[in-house]
Amino acid sequence: MNDVPPRPVNADAAPIPLLDLKAQLATYREAALAAMTRVVDAQEMIMGPEVGQFERALAAYAGVRSAIGMSSGTDALLAALMALDVGPGDEVVTTTFSFFATAGVVARLGAKTVFTDIDPATFNATEAGLRAAVTPNTKAIIPVHLFGQMADIRGLAAATDRPPIIEDSAQSLGARLDGRMTGGFGAMTCVSFFPSKNLGGFGDGGATLTDDPVLAEKLAILRVHGSKPKYFHHIVGGNFRLDTLQAAVLSVKLPLLDAWAEGRRRNAAAYDALFAESGLVERGLVTTPAVLPGAYHVYNQYVVRVPRRDELAAFLGARGIGTAVYYPRPLHLQPCFAGLGHGPGDFPHAERACAEVLALPVYPELPAGAQGRVVRAIAEFYGV
Ligand SMILES: Cc1ncc(COP(=O)(O)O)c(C=O)c1O
Repeated sequence: MNDVPPRPVNADAAPIPLLDLKAQLATYREAALAAMTRVVDAQEMIMGPEVGQFERALAAYAGVRSAIGMSSGTDALLAALMALDVGPGDEVVTTTFSFFATAGVVARLGAKTVFTDIDPATFNATEAGLRAAVTPNTKAIIPVHLFGQMADIRGLAAATDRPPIIEDSAQSLGARLDGRMTGGFGAMTCVSFFPSKNLGGFGDGGATLTDDPVLAEKLAILRVHGSKPKYFHHIVGGNFRLDTLQAAVLSVKLPLLDAWAEGRRRNAAAYDALFAESGLVERGLVTTPAVLPGAYHVYNQYVVRVPRRDELAAFLGARGIGTAVYYPRPLHLQPCFAGLGHGPGDFPHAERACAEVLALPVYPELPAGAQGRVVRAIAEFYGV
């Protein structure tokens, strides 16, 4: 008889997913369901009172005057660019190592994305790189705070001779630099409530934060097709509204965000120590994430650099350990941006990162012992 299926490697060990949202749900499930029930009973599904309540709480959390709820992080970015009247003939400077939306919104408005390379240590664009890409046509600069760590935009934010900054903080709500939270550096800051983000909703959602009352008013109008009052349109906007149901859930989760970030930071520190002890770091096989002096990293992702990355990911996958590659191809080499005329070698640090990065499970509810298993499996792969 040979119909017994082969045992998966390490079949007795529980899988370690990259993210386990169900583990987190258990901590706030009843409150979220109660909040959703209130919305359902009131049937104010569009721009119900929960939207304003959440916006006020979010603005207070981020230390800004206004938060405008949006239908996604992508729409938060799109609306921010629209608030600056970005359009054909304009340039927007950003990093080539980000999620597609960062540059997609620029192209959708008919403007040109001007890419910059990254600091290989932090994966974020550098101030010098962003500045060097500015021309008289630059209408905005979008530094992306990747993986939970703010790009070092302290000098850029302080400079007066520069175009407006839109922080793409989709992955980094709660991150800080020198104690200042993301949201306080740019003219506008965009966050995402995609479920895998540190503050995730039960679907899509986002927000644009700003201290500027004129921009806040324009963003609020842009998200309802540019109308004020209803059915009177002085500008063209879109349907960028945050659902009332999402706002209700997010209001329940927001007070828990800092504790979750602390859990992620604890897990990141534990990985750092385990990798150092394993000898993998010393042998140059694993490069753990670098943290800028003064940075409070909230580890939406814990991303290491490794050789033979794809083989390692498959090896870990066979042992039930979830990983992900953010991102396998830089934006300047995406086929849809071929018109910008870039080729391989234009931004070597980003291209190299795309070949080497691997995100490991770092969610706050990781069970005890899981991180040791991840590190041991990586050591086994490299024969260390
Ligand atoms: C850096 C970055 N920018 C923008 C976005 C877009 O956010 P959303 O998925 O909510 O549209 C994301 C989300 O994946 C992101 O990671």
